[in-house]
Amino acid sequence: MALLDDIDEILIPADALAARVRELGEKISRDYEGKEPLLVAILTGAVLFVSDLIRRISIPCHLDFMATSAYGDGTESTGVVRILKDLNQPIEGRHVIIVDDIIDTGLTMDYLLETLKPRYPASLRVCGLLDKVSRRRRHVPIDYRGFEIPDKFVVGYGLDFGERYRNLPFICVLKSEVYGARPFADTAQPAPFSVR
Ligand code: IMP
Ligand code: MG
Repeated sequence: MALLDDIDEILIPADALAARVRELGEKISRDYEGKEPLLVAILTGAVLFVSDLIRRISIPCHLDFMATSAYGDGTESTGVVRILKDLNQPIEGRHVIIVDDIIDTGLTMDYLLETLKPRYPASLRVCGLLDKVSRRRRHVPIDYRGFEIPDKFVVGYGLDFGERYRNLPFICVLKSEVYGARPFADTAQPAPFSVR
């Protein structure tokens, strides 16, 4: 069965993503002129975003990755985040930009900020492609934001549901039968120890 059959609605088409990512890359290039920032992309969801973003950055920059897992009681995230893969390098004195696919409750990004701050970066900023602001449980300063989106579970352009749909070139909402009979609040929660 083709992936396209599962789609209910395209929220952000590929050309709109490309245009916005280009703007973000240009802004970062201006803001970090002479600074050689380190982009820290969060596996796995941010991989497509960061690979497009970095090609729109016109100043020298570096790229590293972290992987986190979050787990809760199955229905609500507890905010406990584990680091599955840490950075390959120290960040003391570096200008760090954390790049993620989506800021939902904000628990993951809040944890990442609290984890990286004590490592004495020269600066620490957040770049999020999507912002589901209505679900926020922790205040997270998003310095570079792609799009604010409604409270819907989205997939595509790196974001998955059950590890599927990352390869769709746009951001979309799936048909309700694909998510199953579970209400949205459940589908928004990752399985225990899932790599986000
Ligand atoms: P937060 O800790 O609740 O902000 O969630 C952050 C992570 O949850 C993101 O990096 C995503 O991997 C995942 N996530 C949150 N909302 C969605 C969604 O609508 N679709 C796919 N993944 C999501
Ligand atoms: Mg993620």
